[in-house]
Amino acid sequence: MEKKVLKIGQISDPHIGENECLVQGIDVRKNFLAAYNSESMKDLDLLVLSGDLANEDAEPGAYSFIANLLKGSKVPVCVIPGNHDDVKVMGKFFDLEGRVCDGKCYYRYDIGGRSIFFLDSADGTVSDKQLSWLESEAAKVEGEIILFLHHPPCYCGHKFMDMKYSMKNIDEVQTALARIKNLKHIFVGHYHFEKQVEIGNQIVYVTPSTQMQIDPNQSVFCLSSAAPGWRVIEWGENFLESKVYFSRTP
Ligand SMILES: [Fe+2]
Repeated sequence: MEKKVLKIGQISDPHIGENECLVQGIDVRKNFLAAYNSESMKDLDLLVLSGDLANEDAEPGAYSFIANLLKGSKVPVCVIPGNHDDVKVMGKFFDLEGRVCDGKCYYRYDIGGRSIFFLDSADGTVSDKQLSWLESEAAKVEGEIILFLHHPPCYCGHKFMDMKYSMKNIDEVQTALARIKNLKHIFVGHYHFEKQVEIGNQIVYVTPSTQMQIDPNQSVFCLSSAAPGWRVIEWGENFLESKVYFSRTP
């Protein structure tokens, strides 16, 4: 298939509740829609939902809200779980066939002559099995790959999140990722802020949440903004560009 510039939208950490009630005083459904319906998200080749779709504990109402919204869309969707999701419940609303193994949702998705990889870090770790699978699958791909997972595989200079909710096996994951020479760009969420972090030759792009942003300079939880943020990636033959958008504070 002819290679073209792929346009990928990433929505992360929408934290949708079971019903339409506000979540921590925020209209998270409206925030999700602001990202989803944004001009910047038009003409996508792929939409990625990178975890914490549900607010607290895999609320089915969260998944049905998103799944119903996406139903009429022709844009393919790749979903991975975050620490507030449950793959079993997600599977009732999203087509995860062939994407779940031993209860973990990790897979490769080929589009436009390129390969995109997804890992499951919902329990705060990336398992050895996923890491060896990624290494061997990536080796089969000619050319560059990109990777999505929920947790950053690195500390990010976010006082609260680094201290309380960072990935539990960072060293092991970084070592495994560093061995994958055709992987340069890694997209994550979970931290509710925007940042780019270099780990060796790889760049970790931390995408903000559509729910709300957390102040990286405070060691206790401190809301910095209730404005939704999201990322749009353009990936061509010899380049990758990404841009983060924020909607105005509702
Ligand atoms: Fe998370």
